[in-house]
Amino acid sequence: MKCRVCRGKAVIQVRRHNANFCQEHFIDHIHRQVERTIDDFKMFGPDHRLVLGVSGGKDSLALWHILTYVGYRVDGLYLQLGIGDYSSESLTLSQQFAAERGLKLEVVDLPSDFGFAVPEAAAASRRTPCSACGLSKRYVLNREAESRGYDVLVMGHNLDDEAATLFSNVLGWNVEYLGRQRPVLPATDGGLCRKVKPLIRVAERETAAYAVLNGIDYEVEECPLAAGNTINRYKEWLNRLEEQSPGIKANFLFGFLERGSVHFSDAEDVELVSCSNCGQPTTGELCAFCRLQAVTFSRKQDL
Ligand code: FES
Ligand code: ZN
Ligand code: ZN
Repeated sequence: MKCRVCRGKAVIQVRRHNANFCQEHFIDHIHRQVERTIDDFKMFGPDHRLVLGVSGGKDSLALWHILTYVGYRVDGLYLQLGIGDYSSESLTLSQQFAAERGLKLEVVDLPSDFGFAVPEAAAASRRTPCSACGLSKRYVLNREAESRGYDVLVMGHNLDDEAATLFSNVLGWNVEYLGRQRPVLPATDGGLCRKVKPLIRVAERETAAYAVLNGIDYEVEECPLAAGNTINRYKEWLNRLEEQSPGIKANFLFGFLERGSVHFSDAEDVELVSCSNCGQPTTGELCAFCRLQAVTFSRKQDL
């Protein structure tokens, strides 16, 4: 197996690009994919204040490494979700990563700053853990990015994440979510920070390979609450399709972004108002996060 660029010994095969790469040229290839995504979707420029949602996993740490390498100044924002050892280990790895590279990591703690942890919120609200987790992350990262004066919130979702989410939204014809599934969500006056996803051209196995080849120490354990996660199941299905037809995942996602997404743009045209409790943008009286927090508090009082 020879590198497409230098004909040296290849370390990875990327079938959807019909290419093999040596270490150096694979790393170059990933940098180019991310830079191209930032340019194509006009995500941000060198003068924007950027903050990256950091989880301690391969995707966010690889993306932090890439953005810093190609010349952006990016701070990190870590949300401690209260998922036992898993959360404390991920926090330690994120702090080590930042300290070794002289990067700034801001830490928000869901239990001490907002009064509850993901497992208890899931139990109290009868949501799945991932649903309580996703809602908390979206809310807190947006609110903190906005209130700390950042222009852009950068997220580490990769090609597999986005293709599986799209698949899930198509299976359920969730038109509102389809309308919002874009690599750039603009800022709004009402308190939504601009949100971008520069890793969407990079597959999960490639971010893992990138992290390993760059000596990045990331959280390899899976979240202990992930059992039964439907998105993970869809990822497996898409991987089986990808094995038979390399490139199908990227075609599915980018075909949607280029030709499908426009047909759903009206669906997200809902009027946002301020949550009566926290002031964050929402469609109802009380935002979903404040409802989750309220139901968790009342369950705690009952116990
Ligand atoms: Fe869903 Fe951790 S809560 S993977
Ligand atoms: Zn090479
Ligand atoms: Zn609220």
